[in-house]
Amino acid sequence: MIIDTKNITDYSIKYTTPEDDVLQKLYRETHLTTVYPRMLSGPLQGKLLEFISRMMKPSRILEIGTFTGYSAICLARGLAPGGILHTIDINDELAETALRYFREAGLENSIVLHSGDALDIIPGLNEIFDLVFIDGDKEEYIRYYELVIPKVRAGGFVIVDNVLWSGKVLPDCSETDTETISIREFNDLVAGDDRVVKMMLPFRDGIYLLYKPEG
Ligand SMILES: C[S@@+](CC[C@H](N)C(=O)[O-])C[C@H]1O[C@@H](n2cnc3c(N)ncnc32)[C@H](O)[C@@H]1O
Repeated sequence: MIIDTKNITDYSIKYTTPEDDVLQKLYRETHLTTVYPRMLSGPLQGKLLEFISRMMKPSRILEIGTFTGYSAICLARGLAPGGILHTIDINDELAETALRYFREAGLENSIVLHSGDALDIIPGLNEIFDLVFIDGDKEEYIRYYELVIPKVRAGGFVIVDNVLWSGKVLPDCSETDTETISIREFNDLVAGDDRVVKMMLPFRDGIYLLYKPEG
């Protein structure tokens, strides 16, 4: 029997609590107004991020790659009372949309949006994070990772999106574009890094779950 991944995804979405009105509206607006709406996490991955965050109840979250704010809203919903999510995006044309939806979701006091290059902004963030979501420029994953790991608390987690890159990272795939090469190098680096316990989840475009052990 051949399993069609689109059918599997559609079935899984059907059996998942649907997006609320705010996320549904944001999903639609992102598809109508942006060039690459596929970058948005979407209903299934969004719910996974929300679940992880709700299970952890983090006080400090860092997100690299806000886009229109979909994943930031999902993650912020799990914050502990008084918690803050910092999210960074280099494209300031998206800021108005993201901020409008943070307000609509009632999260304007829980999310801080930084416009600029994450590589410049992260060193200036005087925070220790419980949870980090890396979803920015694929060619910069190694540099984000090296900046972020010292700022993750012992016992904290890092989630990295797109680590399977549509399967192009596989050894028998002859892709040689710079993003594929960068993600392969990132995955190899993490695999050999004793600072984190890791699990690659073959979900959607691949999610790397990293845990920074205590002690
Ligand atoms: C895949 S999208 C993020 C999607 C979003 N996390 C979601 O799930 O809805 C990647 C975003 O990273 C941003 N980006 C790319 N390079 C960046 C950098 N160096 N610093 C901050 N943001 C960056 C892009 O502008 C884009 O909006």
